[in-house]
Amino acid sequence: MDRRRDIERPSPLPQHILSSTQFDRGFLDYLYTLTTTIRRFDKSREGLGYLQSLLPHKRAMLYFTQPSTRTFLSFQSACHVLGISASEIRDAATSSERKGESVEDSLRTFSSYVDLIIMRSPIAGLCERVAQLLDGTPRPVPIVNAGSGPDEHPTQALLDIYTLRRSLRLGGGIDGKTICMVGDLKRGRTVRSLARLLTNYDDVRIVFASPPAFRIAEDLRHDLSVSGLKFHETDDFEAAIADADAIYMTRIQDEYDAVGAEPVDTSRFHLTAAHLPRLKTDAVIMHPLPRRDELDVAIDDDPRAKYWRQERNGMWVRVALLTMLFGVDDRVQLPEL
Ligand code: NCD
Repeated sequence: MDRRRDIERPSPLPQHILSSTQFDRGFLDYLYTLTTTIRRFDKSREGLGYLQSLLPHKRAMLYFTQPSTRTFLSFQSACHVLGISASEIRDAATSSERKGESVEDSLRTFSSYVDLIIMRSPIAGLCERVAQLLDGTPRPVPIVNAGSGPDEHPTQALLDIYTLRRSLRLGGGIDGKTICMVGDLKRGRTVRSLARLLTNYDDVRIVFASPPAFRIAEDLRHDLSVSGLKFHETDDFEAAIADADAIYMTRIQDEYDAVGAEPVDTSRFHLTAAHLPRLKTDAVIMHPLPRRDELDVAIDDDPRAKYWRQERNGMWVRVALLTMLFGVDDRVQLPEL
């Protein structure tokens, strides 16, 4: 188990979800206890009916102008679980942005109709800007960052830690563990948000394994150094994975390649079934998905592969987060701890 701590309801509750740097250990412990409690309601019709009765008076806008499968569907499903009705825009070309309206004006418009905006866009920092803008208006609805360019993906980091925590619980939890992150560490926003969130745990070591061209960005390197978290950068993939308690594979983010850029050879950083015997017997294998050839489908049946659970965990963590944003988390009874 993670070190026992008193689980207290965070105060104040968050107004927006913008960056993984806004959370502390107390928040994480509370969110995850709440998540595990909430998912038990899924076991019965009465339980699900109760969850649906929590927020049927609320409306959400899913504004996703970058491709998404899991994040979109899990947020949409999380809304349905809580009775929230959800509308969507999945392409700026179908909104008045096509007529020249600024993205800020579009988002302010949504706030006239809904109580929550969940947004994914290619623009780093846009969520913070919109949250600030709306905070100065009569309808300051919560903004949830569901991925902001190559910058941040805080709710993915929250579900990644939840998955790590559950998967590592028999081995004493996340504290003291070595997490190996592999792939496009420079432009992968999930890596950036997860590495920052891991600074809330004690004695964690991160090993970043990538080709030199995809090393972590300078700002992350700086923030991690300041935090005191131990980390190491390497291109020795084989050594890094053999030593790890958890391996977090990621996709090459080639949507951010400059036009005409030479592709980087990443084949040495692919996890295949041939690697399995060399991993720790209780290692955890994760991936935010979608995957390409960096993660062999032959690994899917190995008990250490947790990425399909990680995907489902995402919906429940998002349900819990939405109850907190609307302040109804206290209507879900936490067990005696
Ligand atoms: C990730 C993303 O969009 O950043 N996917 C996700 O949200 N699960 C990872 C990726 O696209 O590579």
